[in-house]
Amino acid sequence: MRRPPPHTLRGQLTAGLVALLALACLTVGIITALALRGFLMGRLDEQLTTSGGRFPASLEHEATPDADNRPDTRGQADHTFGARLLSGTVTQAAVVDEATDRPVDLTGQDRRALAAIPTDGHGHSIRLSSLRGYRVMAFNGDDQDVLITGLPLHPVEETVHRLVAVEAVLFSTALVMTGIAGAVWVRISLRPLQRVTARAAEVAGLPLASGEIDMPGPLPDTDPRTEVGQVGTALNHMFGHVEDALTRRQASEERLRHFAADASHELRTPVANIRGHAELALRHPGPVPDEVRHALQRIDSESQRMTRLVDDLLLLARLDAGRPLEHDSVDLTRLILNATDDARAAGPAHHWLLDLPEEPVTVTGDAHRLQQAIGNLLANARTHTPPGSEVTITLTTEEAEASLSVSDNGPGIPEDLQREVFGRFVRADHARSRSTGSTGLGLAIVHAITTAHGGTVSVTSRPRRTTFRLTLPL
Ligand SMILES: Nc1ncnc2c1ncn2[C@@H]1O[C@H](COP(=O)(O)OP(=O)(O)O)[C@@H](O)[C@H]1O
Ligand SMILES: [Mg+2]
Repeated sequence: MRRPPPHTLRGQLTAGLVALLALACLTVGIITALALRGFLMGRLDEQLTTSGGRFPASLEHEATPDADNRPDTRGQADHTFGARLLSGTVTQAAVVDEATDRPVDLTGQDRRALAAIPTDGHGHSIRLSSLRGYRVMAFNGDDQDVLITGLPLHPVEETVHRLVAVEAVLFSTALVMTGIAGAVWVRISLRPLQRVTARAAEVAGLPLASGEIDMPGPLPDTDPRTEVGQVGTALNHMFGHVEDALTRRQASEERLRHFAADASHELRTPVANIRGHAELALRHPGPVPDEVRHALQRIDSESQRMTRLVDDLLLLARLDAGRPLEHDSVDLTRLILNATDDARAAGPAHHWLLDLPEEPVTVTGDAHRLQQAIGNLLANARTHTPPGSEVTITLTTEEAEASLSVSDNGPGIPEDLQREVFGRFVRADHARSRSTGSTGLGLAIVHAITTAHGGTVSVTSRPRRTTFRLTLPL
């Protein structure tokens, strides 16, 4: 069986169960051993009381050779000890050995120990050097002497040892069995908790920050009478709230996207009308005052800028909404050549350098959108660098992706702007941008288009070297 690590709840419960049982077994073991010992000692004392001082009293005649006066060992159990003391000195000491008596050699210490036993009618445990442990009792004899009778302690000790041994085997078996059964039982009882944990982990692993979330169904463990049921109910409530919040957020994002798309769509017509009327007015054959002509030209150029802005916003709103893109085979080399031609025409003062592979590179995607992305990068390299700057467009293919980089040797992008340069309405110079027709949406569109194609876009920039790198899966 695989043992769970002890810091798990399962391990802790099992270990606790076994530890408690071990404690109980130990207590029971100690109490029974002590009780048995006490009981057996009581019995020994009773036997001593019954036999009284008969055997030691008969030792007085030991010295006489007369067979009739031999010490009285009748009715005495084997190994019974007897000693006779006269005024505190041991005069005789013997044990019964196969129905006859055998003198016992005593050391000075033994003698002192025997002399110290009080004649109080109680049993006392002593240990003599030539014998093992004995339970002895002292009686007052008839001739001013003290008679000591003893019975060996080792049968008592053996019985107690035996009990302890049996208990040890029994209790260890019980502990092992409880350990195994307890582990299985705890495992089974904790199964609902595992379900709850797994579900919580599953939800924690969901990409809650983005898009539509498919929340797993509610947990089945909701019995409020159990702890797991309470956790399950609480989690179900929480999942419900999270799902609710996500749905609401999703809906509000959706509304916002729709609003942006609708607003930009609605703005297109009036802006086109303004532009049309300005053009019409400018073509008026009659004499027009210079200030009016200038104002009309401003209206025309501003409405052109507004058209671009509205178009960019609409495009972003559509990309945000995840509008499906075209899935054509697009010749990237051709797109780059076209875009560079346009850039050359728009910025003849820049040096445009091309580094393309021999073979045409084809990707799958939306040609019009990709053209727009490349156009935006080239437009940036033109508008955010001084005339005479060098722009290099490189196309390479590596394994499964095409990599397009646009580098220029212009002033570069400030460090703090680099991280958010792909954000919306992010630009270095707000004041200047108004006159150059910059909107801060160009790179946001590049980012949205590449991501929609499953590609990436990144920037590295320092003065005299700014590189935008765009990769697309082949
Ligand atoms: N090649 C570049 N060299 C220097 N700065 C750049 C370059 N490309 C982009 N930028 C900076 O990044 C900003 C954001 O670019 P973009 O999103 O295309 O907006 P826009 O071009 O309309 O300002 C620009 O305003 C400019 O400050
Ligand atoms: Mg731009």
